[in-house]
Amino acid sequence: MTRGWFITFEGGEGTGKSTQIELLRARLARGGRTVLVTREPGGTPLAEKIRELLLDPDYDPDPLTELFLLEASRREHVENVIRPALERGQVVICDRFADSSLVYQGRVGGVNEATVATLNEAATLGLVPDRTIVLDLLTEEGLARARRRNRDQGGASRIDDRPPAFHRRVREAYLELARREPERVRIIDGRGTPDEVFERVRAALPEELR
Ligand SMILES: Nc1ncnc2c1ncn2[C@@H]1O[C@H](COP(=O)(O)OP(=O)(O)OP(=O)(O)O)[C@@H](O)[C@H]1O
Ligand SMILES: [Mg+2]
Repeated sequence: MTRGWFITFEGGEGTGKSTQIELLRARLARGGRTVLVTREPGGTPLAEKIRELLLDPDYDPDPLTELFLLEASRREHVENVIRPALERGQVVICDRFADSSLVYQGRVGGVNEATVATLNEAATLGLVPDRTIVLDLLTEEGLARARRRNRDQGGASRIDDRPPAFHRRVREAYLELARREPERVRIIDGRGTPDEVFERVRAALPEELR
């Protein structure tokens, strides 16, 4: 089976994931790669409906309910979008993936981490990213960026309103993930200009994609 590359971007709110993903997409495309950029939750019509439910301020599901919804969308996404693209040899860049559940529903949300891991495994049939880039930024800096962007775009997400302690715990949980799986999960300093950060991202990619 010819297989492409599966790269995921993780990190707290406003740490620069979307910005870096676009820089990477453009660079890989210039190098002649076929790149698929996608995001979680979402990626298929049904998964996008689940995304709407999760972002709808009318509902406030507990972390376990949230986890089930996310895993349903994850399964849809992996089976219908990610795996087929990898089998075609494409580079798939995903904005958040299973690690987000380990962090947000598990570590921070309080769902038993073994439960999260089991559901991740079931939803992905064991598909693990080749590399995971965690953009790391002091909580305050990330939130200030995200607020600036929301103000500019006139939108806001449910998650932006959480207290600073919540964002600190998210950051800590990602650092812990990287300590556990240092080969796959790379912590990237998110400070500096987008181009400066991108140089660090590139250096952390598998050699074939640099
Ligand atoms: N290196 C940087 N320096 C200054 N501002 C930045 C940098 N990278 C991104 N930004 C800006 O910060 C805001 C958040 O960046 P971006 O949307 O890429 O983060 P994100 O991690 O995708 O956020 P979210 O979790 O909300 O999706 C945007 O307005 C973006 O233009
Ligand atoms: Mg984003």
